Amino acid sequence: MKKALSVTLAVLFTFWAASAFAGSQCPQPRKTKAAPGSAVSLDETANANADHGKELYIKTAKPMACIMCHGEKGDGQGKLGAALKPSPRNFSCAETMKNISPGQMFYIVKNGSPGTGMVAHSKTLKDQDIWDVVKYVRQTYVK
Ligand code: HEC
Repeated sequence: MKKALSVTLAVLFTFWAASAFAGSQCPQPRKTKAAPGSAVSLDETANANADHGKELYIKTAKPMACIMCHGEKGDGQGKLGAALKPSPRNFSCAETMKNISPGQMFYIVKNGSPGTGMVAHSKTLKDQDIWDVVKYVRQTYVK
């Protein structure tokens, strides 16, 4: 009887641990809404600077570097991101990212995603900075 109980507990613990430390999801549930109208189809990444985008992503973006939430691998598992609900976007998930255009990304980085940890950067980043970071993210993490 005792043994059955401890086996049950071990199994329950395994399930709990697996769900608590599940890591990045793919396909990933998505709370962020579509950008309005023609914003979705804007694309100025052709003239953007991915090297500058990388600096912003890993270090200089304000209020916080993207890496803190979206992670080193772009999978949404940054130091802060792992604890957020909903999780930050997993850029490395092709199935989710195939529906997310450069214009959509630009709009959300600029205006934020209400009801999530994704804040607006309209006061801290210039439009050109945002295109730079969008280009870096697409080039580096989106498959
Ligand atoms: C405090 C944590 C945090 C930081 C810092 C952060 N993000 Fe996010 N990001 C999120 C969360 C949470 C979401 C929403 C996920 C969802 O839709 O369910 C999100 C969503 C996004 C999306 C939405 C795409 C879509 O339409 O689904 C993009 C693009 C994005 N972030 C890019 C960035 C970039 C670039 C930076 C740095 C300038 C950044 N994020 C900084 C947490 C963060």
